[in-house]
Amino acid sequence: MISQKMADAINEQIKNEFYSGWLYLAMSFKAEEMSLKYFAEWFRLQESEEKMHANKMCNYLLDQGAEVKLSALDKPKFDGSSIDAMVTETVKHEKFITDCISNLVNVAKEENDNATFNFLQWYVEEQVEEVASVTELDDLVKLAGPGQLLLLEERLKEVISLRNSETTA
Ligand code: FEO
Repeated sequence: MISQKMADAINEQIKNEFYSGWLYLAMSFKAEEMSLKYFAEWFRLQESEEKMHANKMCNYLLDQGAEVKLSALDKPKFDGSSIDAMVTETVKHEKFITDCISNLVNVAKEENDNATFNFLQWYVEEQVEEVASVTELDDLVKLAGPGQLLLLEERLKEVISLRNSETTA
């Protein structure tokens, strides 16, 4: 059984993870509006990853005999005026999530909760990967500029197909 303080902190992060999915879903619709089909699909993949992150935490709370408390999600807030702005916002958001995970790890340390500390290491590693991959995409979008977005669409098509083959392997 984990402490109430630890359970509350994880429940708060569950909300953040679901909100991340909510945000990326909204961005996916914006990308569709811009006819950027593979950017839209990439945001959809991000959305499903966020749901997985949230559900993994829900299952952990249940395994620990703690209550899962879902809360209302805020309306997604972002600048949807260009794909450039949305990808940059994604980097900013993932850095925020990295800080949240880091705070959770600190709570686990304060609570002498080794099981939760170990559980959270998966998220620590996942955030390194997430920030690196979205930063790379952000750099490419900026390098390409608006005139070369179709080339990036082709690249994303390959990335998506690779990710899909990894999940079905
Ligand atoms: Fe679940 Fe993208 O952090």
